[in-house]
Amino acid sequence: MNIKKITTITAPHYELLLLADPAKKLVNDYVKRGIVFEIAQNHLLGIIVLLPTRPETLEIVNIAVHPAFQGEGIGQKLLAFALEYAKKENYQTIEIGTSSTGFPQLYLYQKMGFRMTSIDKDFFIRHYEEEIVENGLILKDMVRLSLDL
Ligand code: ACO
Repeated sequence: MNIKKITTITAPHYELLLLADPAKKLVNDYVKRGIVFEIAQNHLLGIIVLLPTRPETLEIVNIAVHPAFQGEGIGQKLLAFALEYAKKENYQTIEIGTSSTGFPQLYLYQKMGFRMTSIDKDFFIRHYEEEIVENGLILKDMVRLSLDL
């Protein structure tokens, strides 16, 4: 499996990005400003977008694995890569925000060492036009997590 930086976003990349974040406008914006990596082995398996936010802080704004390959450790590889990249580039903190109803993701991020820092109440009501239902619940709040490197 090979992780490499990409500068051209193809339709398959875009499909993955929308899996993690259905808000096209937000995706278009952070893809332009962020650093995008793909993971592939013969074909595209996943994507991760890293965005420098505050000084010494890098945020994982999008992470997605192709549905046919989820649950095989690829997400963990992408997260481990992001942590290494951030350390190498001398960032002090890495952050990630996710849905309060995304239980597998919350498990995974905490397994990788992220700790919860705050709740952005009604984030998904304010920023998303369509209601999102996940795991049987209407998604309203964003959980923000961070890891000190
Ligand atoms: N259901 C149950 N368990 C899961 C799931 C799931 N959907 N996803 C991951 N896990 C668990 C695995 O069991 C594994 O645990 P273990 O190692 O203790 O057995 C652990 O989480 C890691 O799993 P991976 O195989 O590394 O995760 P995967 O390759 O599936 O990638 C990801 C995780 C990126 C969340 C993927 O499922 C995905 O693309 N989901 C849809 C898009 C999404 O929700 N992205 C995150 C949005 S937040 C953001 O982008 C900032």
